Amino acid sequence: MLKGKNIVLGVTGGIAVYKAVDVVSRLRKMSANIDVIMTKSATEFVQPLTFQSLSQNYVTVDMFEEPKKWEIEHISLAQKADVFLVAPATANIIGKVANGIADDMLSTTIMATKAKVVFAPAMNTNMYTNPIYKENEIKLKALGYEFINPAKGRLACGDYGEGKLAEPVDIVEYVTNMLTNNDLEDKKLIISAGPTIEPIDPVRYITNFSSGKMGYALAKEAKSRGADVLLVSGPTNIDVPSGVKVIRVNTTREMLKAIEENFDECDGLIKAAAPLDYRPEAVSNIKIKKSGEDLNIKFTRNPDISQEIGTRKKNQIMVGFAAETNDLVKNAKEKIKKKNFDFIVLNDVSKKDAGFRSDTNIATIIDKDGHINDYPKMSKEELSKIIIDKLSELL
Ligand code: PMT
Repeated sequence: MLKGKNIVLGVTGGIAVYKAVDVVSRLRKMSANIDVIMTKSATEFVQPLTFQSLSQNYVTVDMFEEPKKWEIEHISLAQKADVFLVAPATANIIGKVANGIADDMLSTTIMATKAKVVFAPAMNTNMYTNPIYKENEIKLKALGYEFINPAKGRLACGDYGEGKLAEPVDIVEYVTNMLTNNDLEDKKLIISAGPTIEPIDPVRYITNFSSGKMGYALAKEAKSRGADVLLVSGPTNIDVPSGVKVIRVNTTREMLKAIEENFDECDGLIKAAAPLDYRPEAVSNIKIKKSGEDLNIKFTRNPDISQEIGTRKKNQIMVGFAAETNDLVKNAKEKIKKKNFDFIVLNDVSKKDAGFRSDTNIATIIDKDGHINDYPKMSKEELSKIIIDKLSELL
């Protein structure tokens, strides 16, 4: 699958180095060519010989050792790379690259490469949340460097939190996606996901059952195909896919504002969110006390985000969802017209294993010319591929 692809892997010093060995093994099985550059500290954890045996390539550590063939090593590896992966990436290497420091083989080669560089950070939680580290990450992201988010869990030092190197299988998937289908490169997409919530008083709110699974799966798929993805998300418990930007919102009006502010620059908008159509007309600023009486709350209309954005549409492709329980196709067709969608993904939310909260969905895609395609039950990830394929064609 990766035959002919050159991956340069930078390995920096941390306990997670052993996982990088698994990454090399997996990528080799997919026929990629891997050149490994280790920092001196990385060699304290695992010998270069381990990487050499698995990659079947000479492992570079020192800037000044006798070259194996007559090439300026850091320049030739920098030019050869189709993707430059750094895993595990310490706070130190990220800090160096962010600040233009090139003082060893790895930092020099990263500086000299024109390939996409992707860091898979691994470090202690306090280091990972340190504002200095965060500033470096933000700076590098703005310059186009990519990051595979670390996982949460028990760290080698005994602390619990973010900072564990992402699993090798996820790192390999990320790199494979970078090297294969890049049909959405240079495209900016906004994807809305999850529910919105509307406060009633300081301790209560109304919402719906949307988990965000559908929208997050779409964001992951679009990102893996090279798109610049902005997720506008209501409250969810899902990790944001690596490399995806996020604006977190609570209310429908906040969701509208976030989309409005970014819509003119985007190429496509996918409205997988389930924004509340109504909100309490008045929000009490003190907790509503229990009394012997029933409580009546008057609800007022929220804006229809898609309808408002639809009127500003120029060349953008707009994809809607329709969560229906009856008159499915008729209602969905009306929504295409009313909201100016190019196509709509209709899910019958009364069906088991479809719509809200489930890992699967059962969808019908209807386009603005009335063509209808029914799909069987599949995972939200599989459905995302189909939706993004269709969007990609239109773009
Ligand atoms: O999040 P999950 O648990 O994975 O569930 C996925 C989902 C069921 C939420 C998703 O597949 C879905 O169907 N999302 C749309 C839900 C919805 O609000 O449907 P609707 O038929 O009420 O709205 C139609 C379209 O208008 C949708 O694209 C919606 O995002 C949009 N809308 C709705 C209300 C509103 N005020 N503004 C909007 O833009």
